[in-house]
Amino acid sequence: MRPRSRLRAKEPGPTDPRVASSTWALASARQGADFAVDTAPPAYYTRWGNPTVRELEDVLADLEGGARALATGSGMGAIASAILTSVDRGDHVVAGSSLYTATTEIFTRLLPRFGIETTFVDPRRRGAWKESVRSDTRLVYVETPANPTMMITDLSEAVSAARSVGATTLADNTFASPVNQRPIEFGIDGVLHSATKYLGGHSDVVAGAVVTAKRGLFDRIWFVYKMLGPALGPFEAFLVRRGLKTLPLRMEVQSRTAQSLAEFLEDRRAVRVVHYPGLQSFPQHALARKQMNGFGAMLSFELNGGYRAGKRFVEAVDIATLAVSLGGTETLVQHPASMTHGPLTDQERRVSGISEGLVRVSVGLEDADDLIDDFDRAIRAASR
Ligand SMILES: Cc1ncc(COP(=O)(O)O)c(C=O)c1O
Repeated sequence: MRPRSRLRAKEPGPTDPRVASSTWALASARQGADFAVDTAPPAYYTRWGNPTVRELEDVLADLEGGARALATGSGMGAIASAILTSVDRGDHVVAGSSLYTATTEIFTRLLPRFGIETTFVDPRRRGAWKESVRSDTRLVYVETPANPTMMITDLSEAVSAARSVGATTLADNTFASPVNQRPIEFGIDGVLHSATKYLGGHSDVVAGAVVTAKRGLFDRIWFVYKMLGPALGPFEAFLVRRGLKTLPLRMEVQSRTAQSLAEFLEDRRAVRVVHYPGLQSFPQHALARKQMNGFGAMLSFELNGGYRAGKRFVEAVDIATLAVSLGGTETLVQHPASMTHGPLTDQERRVSGISEGLVRVSVGLEDADDLIDDFDRAIRAASR
């Protein structure tokens, strides 16, 4: 099902005015006292809420089919606030084994301080979620497609396992965007985004969001967020709001180019395997087809030459850029083993499915043939 797209601004013109105030004049001390205990008043103090940020939040809630959204100053601001809302001292978490690195670190480095244990499951294994939940599991956390392995989680399976023990479900939908996947339709309680990526879409803003299926979870996350303080500024909210206007168009063209590039890579002898849900050869292609409306513009591939070839490839591209982050209009490549997943231990990298020769690609809006030529040349340079 395609998202109902509320891409038009409400009023007064094609763009809404930006409200830069950090604080607002109050009608009375009584009103100040009421706002101080209110949830997300839109014109009290910008960490509590802001009309420009609220406009973005309402569009995001609409795109994801949720009750309410909270925009944050980064994706991790949303992820940390939502996770810390969902668990208490001594609880158990079940999470996918392939996650964005800082998210993995919340589960492996931060939550253990509070006696919270996480069981990581291979999302590709049928029944893995059901087998891993326990009576004390309070959170089931998924990222699908996962960064950078592109592993897909069966959303219905994860939701059913979580519901069997009364756990909250959170899904990082950054890679797919609401154009290609709407996890709330599968029963997910909270959808997370790094809005730095496809939602903003132009690599010029750092932002995040959580969209909740029901108002109750929003209220609880907002309470934690208010204390942690990862607020989004109104100018950044404006940039994300502007980016959203072209999200479906960008996604469509970038996904088409990703499909062509993946098919090209699949035929190269120097490439061991291509991870792209749109390929017939992708082991979870049928599942991706079932729960996604499109396969997106992220892919990864493994070079036969291992660590050295991966590093050489990302340094040899010319049209693509060697850089972290993703989801913008320029094609970006990176080598997780030597870069983003460097902070993990060897064992953690193995569990996360990060091989030595893995290269991650965020496909942009360049001409598909130009990109294919660029990759062809860089693969040959990396194999020498
Ligand atoms: C899947 C995913 N989730 C979350 C994040 C974190 O987002 P941010 O950098 O906006 O905090 C990233 C960043 O790359 C990501 O790729």
